[in-house]
Amino acid sequence: MESKVKELVAEVESVSIANPDQAEQFRLKYLSKKGILAELFEEFKTLVPEQRKLVGKQLNELKQLAEKKLNEAKESVAQNGYSGEKNIDLSLPAEHAELGSRHPISLVRASITDIFTKIGFTISEGPEIEDDWHNFGALNFPEDHPARDMQDTFFVESGNDEKWLLRTHTSSVQVRVMKNQKPPIRTISPGRVYRNETISARAHCQFHQVEGLYVDEGVSFANLKQTLYYFVHEMFGEDIQIRFRPSFFPFTEPSAEMDISCIICGGKGCPVCKQSGWVEILGCGMVHPNVLENCGIDSKKYTGYAFGMGIERITMLRYQIKDLRMFFENDMRFLSQFKSVL
Ligand code: PHE
Repeated sequence: MESKVKELVAEVESVSIANPDQAEQFRLKYLSKKGILAELFEEFKTLVPEQRKLVGKQLNELKQLAEKKLNEAKESVAQNGYSGEKNIDLSLPAEHAELGSRHPISLVRASITDIFTKIGFTISEGPEIEDDWHNFGALNFPEDHPARDMQDTFFVESGNDEKWLLRTHTSSVQVRVMKNQKPPIRTISPGRVYRNETISARAHCQFHQVEGLYVDEGVSFANLKQTLYYFVHEMFGEDIQIRFRPSFFPFTEPSAEMDISCIICGGKGCPVCKQSGWVEILGCGMVHPNVLENCGIDSKKYTGYAFGMGIERITMLRYQIKDLRMFFENDMRFLSQFKSVL
């Protein structure tokens, strides 16, 4: 038995362990319950006492050697970050790490904010859950205005008499700005808004807006038009035609809606512009004096203009997307098309 143990010491010393599989094989062979060492210890029990003394010491040394070997091997495998090096072909190209892309709505929001910050507009943000006053009251909506109706607005249960709601437009942010700052005020407010609408290719219960506001002494409708001409030409190109149509909003007087010549057909008529040659892109007007007064601004001294547009609509025109629902479905086949636009 003595010589057998000596042979085994040499054998264990010569084993090389390079990966987790080999470490496990080593453990099974020498150190497991049915391994060689367990067998030897059984045999050891049958020896006469004089032999036991000598062989016992050798056996223990063999066991320690095997354990040390196994532990060292495990450590070095872990440290070197075992990667099955025998199977690696270092000449192969590296595995490609998938890069994400920005959402088309984010891309267009960034273009819009860039265009306006270039001419001195600041960016303002506000809460998506608003009280009735910031969303409607301050903006000159009469108490019985249909837009306050349950059909358009998502109300939030507040547990008291105060009416809370999901903002239906980011004009609420402009109310906050006018209350907290003194003119001149020149700001845009991008953000998500909510309306209780049936979801279809052209409408959704949540969407995004950018609204703009300029309040100062002597601000006129001509200033508003000039700013919007600049915006459209930066956004869609110099060839785009623009027209204003009279409209109504409780918070602006006079009010208008702005159309641009259809960027798909160039004004000849197509399904996107419903054969009219024009597409509506925003609402605008001169801030109603009541709104200025509600926010603590002297309407005799100051005038202002405001405008608001839906980012989804601008994005659909810019990338010729026909169904608004695509923006919220997060389908990779759709989103990955915007990779190159980064
Ligand atoms: N707040 C309006 C909307 O949500 C847009 C708008 C803003 C119109 C400013 C006129 C002036 O539709």
